[in-house]
Parts: sequence; structure tokens; C-alpha cells
Amino acid sequence: MPDDQAAKIAKSKKTEKAKLEEPDSGALLKGRLSEAPDPALLKASASIDFDYKLAAYDVKGSMAHAKMLEKSGLISHDDLNKILAGLKTILSEILEGRFTFDPLLEDVHMNVEKALTDLIGPVGAKLHAARSRNDQVVLDERLFLREKSQIIGRELRNLREALLIKSEECGLAPMPGYTHLQRAQPVLLAHHLMAYYQMLSRDQQRLNQTKERLLIMPLGSGALAGTGLPIEPQGVADDLEFTSLAPNSLDAVSSRDFLLEFLSFSAILMVNMSRLAEDIVLWCTSEFNFATLPDSLTTTSSMMPQKKNPDGAELIRGKAGRTFGNLMTLLTTLKGLPLSYNRDLQEDKEPLFDTVETLETVLPLASKLVCGLIFNLPRLREAANDGNALATDLAERLVLKGVAFRKAHEIVGSLAAFAAENGQSLRDLSDKQLKAASNLINRALIDELTLELNLQARRTSPGGTSPETTRRQMAKAWDRLRQEKLDGWL
Ligand code: ARG
Repeated sequence: MPDDQAAKIAKSKKTEKAKLEEPDSGALLKGRLSEAPDPALLKASASIDFDYKLAAYDVKGSMAHAKMLEKSGLISHDDLNKILAGLKTILSEILEGRFTFDPLLEDVHMNVEKALTDLIGPVGAKLHAARSRNDQVVLDERLFLREKSQIIGRELRNLREALLIKSEECGLAPMPGYTHLQRAQPVLLAHHLMAYYQMLSRDQQRLNQTKERLLIMPLGSGALAGTGLPIEPQGVADDLEFTSLAPNSLDAVSSRDFLLEFLSFSAILMVNMSRLAEDIVLWCTSEFNFATLPDSLTTTSSMMPQKKNPDGAELIRGKAGRTFGNLMTLLTTLKGLPLSYNRDLQEDKEPLFDTVETLETVLPLASKLVCGLIFNLPRLREAANDGNALATDLAERLVLKGVAFRKAHEIVGSLAAFAAENGQSLRDLSDKQLKAASNLINRALIDELTLELNLQARRTSPGGTSPETTRRQMAKAWDRLRQEKLDGWL
């Protein structure tokens, strides 16, 4: 039998025994209560089914706390070594999936502490000096979120890079730009993709801006009021690379705005990704026929053999909702809470974990979808060359000839309406028909307003879609991405 398997069984036997001898979750907290918790209460209060995800962070936090206790003279050097050795064993059990969590011990903190005393004896009971689960859980969450923010930040950067690479690949290919989902004016496909790059860059900025407030170290706050023991939390902060200490213990144990910030960032990011996903879904319809996806990024129907469905994009769109819900859940949980810690706060974890897992799932998928998109460039050009797409340019030409814009708008609008009545576009009108609307318009002027001219010589206003401005936009984006790679975060 492999060692780890044996250890696991031995461990669960130990837990079984503990249950018989000390059937209440207060195995470590006996004293005040003489009865085991009612099963109805236990069902609601046990959080181990989800907060086991904090286990490794809990152990790392405890290691730093133990070192601080020794430095402060609250435990001996010998005690520290025993505690650290025990915690190290527990950490490897957790990381290798061999640690057995016991729901009767309520939460991750009690599970780790009980395992430690089981492992090293009574000295394990010294660890919780100057600490409460109320400050401990906040420390665990901060450590967890710091690691996850880094992973998510990297994936988000990859997605932005994928958009930039795809934009480069598209060169100067035109596509119709839309408002109201009606063809409006031609734009560069690269410009359209870069719009998503810009949105996601702001998301990245938002994530980076959470860093300063995430790196506040809460230990030392105790249950709510600090501790009378002579401790030095700065040691824990240095050890775990936090940049500041919580300035108010009541705030430290009861605030969760660092989680709200992450959930808000995530909800906004998911809105942006959902819109990108929606564009991909539209582009892949037979109606648009602007793009296709590789087979590996699509699914088929169990009944309709011809189907090739963009489920990945739909799922990104679909999963946005749960991240909005998670933000609302935590906002609502916090809304009516008096200071300081209340058990309601335990409900902060599932929304957090769910959002983290959602982002860890959809970000790499979105990158693959962007990389995989195969654009139908002839079709995009044909659609961009819509005979009415020159309407705004025509109006602007009249303005250059001294006509007031509103008047120019009216002249071109009536021409477009006239053409539409006959099932035509502006490009189909005769010299005579054009001149009837204004003596400043004729066929030669219409023929001058080519798609190329439209895109190349015009739209050079800042942020416009001309090749020159788009190229400048992409060059800046590359510089920034390279810089970010050097900066990193956390
Ligand atoms: N599992 C609890 C939570 O997540 C830990 C703190 C418990 N504190 C208490 N006073 N019961 O919030």
C-alpha cells in the first residue's frame, strides 16, 4: 500500500475515534457549552465543504503566526520547531490531497488545528494565542485571493495578447461597423478587435488597483478588539509579504470590501467578455458569415447532424450572470451587518470561490476562441462596402463645401430614403437624381468616396479607425503589454 494511502486511512481512523470520544465540534472549544451542537445547527454552520479550499493558506498563515509568537516570547524555540514540523506535514498532506477533513470540526481552521494537536500533542494548543478565527479567516482569504489574482491577471493578459495578435493578423481588412446592430460606417476589423483589447486593459488596471488594499495584514486584530498579549504583527506581515497592518481591528475582522472589489472587477470583466462572446456568436451565424471557429472549439447537435455550434462563446456569455449574482450576494450579505464580526460573514466564501473558478475557466477559453477565429475577409469587405456606408462621408463632404451639417444630414438622408424606396442604395443613384437633391452632389463625388478612401484618408481623429491611428493604437498596446510583463504584480 502506498505511504500516502496508508496515512490517509490512519488519519480517517483517528478522526472516527475522535468523533466517538468528542462528538461535538467544540472538541477544541469545550468549556462554555455542555451539549453537542444540534444537527440542524451543524448543517448550517459547517463550512468545511467549501472552505477546505483555504487549507493551504491557513497553514501558511499559521506558520508565520507561530514564528511571530516565538519572536514575541510567547512560545519557546522548541515549541516553534514542533509546531512548524507539524504544520509542514499537514501542508504536504493538503497539497497532495491526503488530508482528511472532518465536517464535525466545522471549518478549515478547526480542522487544521485539531490535526496539529493530534500530530504533535498539547504544544499544538499554544498556536492559537493572540489570534481568533475572525482575523485568521480574513488572513486566509487575503492570501488565497492574492495568489488567484495573480493567476487571473496572467490569463487576462494572455487574452489581451491574443486580441492584439489577431488584430495584427487582420492587417487592414475592413468590416462594417454597427450601431443598433444596423450597418453604420466601415471600420477596420483590427479596430473592432482592439476595442475589446481596450476594455480588457481597463479590467487589468482595475485588478491591479486592488493590490494595495489586498495587501493589508489583519492578524493582531483578534476576535474584534486586538489582543492584550505582547505580539508583533509586523513580523507576520514581513514574513507573508504584506505591505501594511490593519489600522483598526473592528474593521479588519468585519470588512469584506477587498472581496467586493475583486467581485466587482470580475463582474465588469465578465460583461466585457460576454459582449465579445456575443460578437463571436453573431459572426459565426450563416446570416453574418463573418467568421468560423475550428471544430475543436465548437460542438454539434445530438439531433441535427449539420450543426456546428459556438458553445464556448455562449458559455462565456452564460457564465457572466453567476458572477453578477456573486457580487450581489456579498453586497446583500454585508449590507445590514452591525460591527464587528457576525457569522453571516462565513457566506462570503462561496461567491468568491465560484467567481474565481469561473474566471479560471473562461479566460483561457476566451483566448483560444480569439486565436481560433478564422475571418471570412471577402465577405467582411463586401459587407463593409454597403452602398449606404458612404452616407456620413457624403454629408461631411458637403460640410467641407460650406453646407451646415444639419442641412447636409437632411440632403443625404432624403437621398438615402429615395434610394431605399426603389430598393437601391446611394451608390445606385444617377447623376440626375443626385443633383436633384443638391447641386453640390454628383456621380463623380459618389465614385470618389470609395471604401479605401473612407478608411484610409479619413477617420484619423484620435481613436478613429484609419489604418494610421489603428496601427498607432496597436503599437502602444504592444509597448504596454511588454512593460506589464516586466512589472508583474504581487
Ligand atoms: N468559518 C468562519 C468564517 O468563515 C470562521 C470564523 C468563525 N468565527 C466565529 N466567531 N464563529 O467566518
